[in-house]
Amino acid sequence: MFKILRAEHLAENIVLMDVEAKRVAKACQPGQFIIVRLDEKGERIPLTIADYDREKGTVTIVFQPIGASTYQFANLKAGDSFMDFVGPLGRPSELTTDDLEEVKKKKILFVAGGVGTAPVYPQVKWLHEHGIDADVIVGAKTKSLIIMEDMMKEVAGNLYVTTDDGSYGRSGMVTKVIEDLVAEGKQYDLCVAIGPMIMMKFCCLTTKKLGIPTIVSMNPIMVDGTGMCGACRLTVGDEVKFACVDGPEFDGHKINFDEAMKRQAMYKTEEGRALLKFQE
Ligand code: NAD
Ligand code: FES
Repeated sequence: MFKILRAEHLAENIVLMDVEAKRVAKACQPGQFIIVRLDEKGERIPLTIADYDREKGTVTIVFQPIGASTYQFANLKAGDSFMDFVGPLGRPSELTTDDLEEVKKKKILFVAGGVGTAPVYPQVKWLHEHGIDADVIVGAKTKSLIIMEDMMKEVAGNLYVTTDDGSYGRSGMVTKVIEDLVAEGKQYDLCVAIGPMIMMKFCCLTTKKLGIPTIVSMNPIMVDGTGMCGACRLTVGDEVKFACVDGPEFDGHKINFDEAMKRQAMYKTEEGRALLKFQE
């Protein structure tokens, strides 16, 4: 069993948990994810790793309850446990495995949308610890949904916060901020965009226009997380890839986002029914 040591709300509907998982904490790298299951009847939920502490043996997860299982997770308190906490899965971010001297030459822009701020944080932190200060855009619908701002400020070169409704920071979606920064004279060699698929799609359209290579982290439906079931299939260029073993990070300019979004919505009816049953 994997004990929850801390459980708190970062925002109205966004939960952070520190989970005791010594082996995962020892081996995980930024960009990787885990699959969590509450009990033997539980659904397998993939969640990106938001932070880790190798000494304490803890892994931090951040999630937004949207279906029956994640609402069940959100009701858990410190002291409760998950039955499974499998990982680290997927490939680490290439920024952390590429030649560091080459990475140091790049001007990097991270774009974090909503809950996608959580998986951006360990990458920006890792780079900061290795002498690279990347710029970061954090976007959310409104002020109360901005998460991890202070933590991000400590590790980012420049942090640009924006809200869709203009209630905090800059005003407008993250794509507008990308365009504004470039118009203000900023130059970037690489963009890493993580958030809802629709955001990643539009970030890629923007960065393609601006000529900035872009990496995205895909979060399709997953079942086994080991490349066996095919649930997380994506089309990248003219190749079929599995997000769980080939990703989750890919060249965003090659992803077929429309197909990926259609596949992500495939079980919406069943998910809705399960949530209604859970709420009864
Ligand atoms: P959200 O819908 O509030 O969007 C966050 C930001 O993305 C917005 O503030 C806006 O700046 C930008 N955005 C959204 N739509 C856009 C568009 N059409 N064009 C340009 N920019 C746009 O985000 P949320 O509610 O926090 O998102 C939750 C979703 O994020 C869930 O579906 C979850 O699965 C996904 N998620 C993805 C990852 C990942 O690894 N890719 C990680 C965590 C969560
Ligand atoms: Fe089954 Fe990726 S989750 S192949």
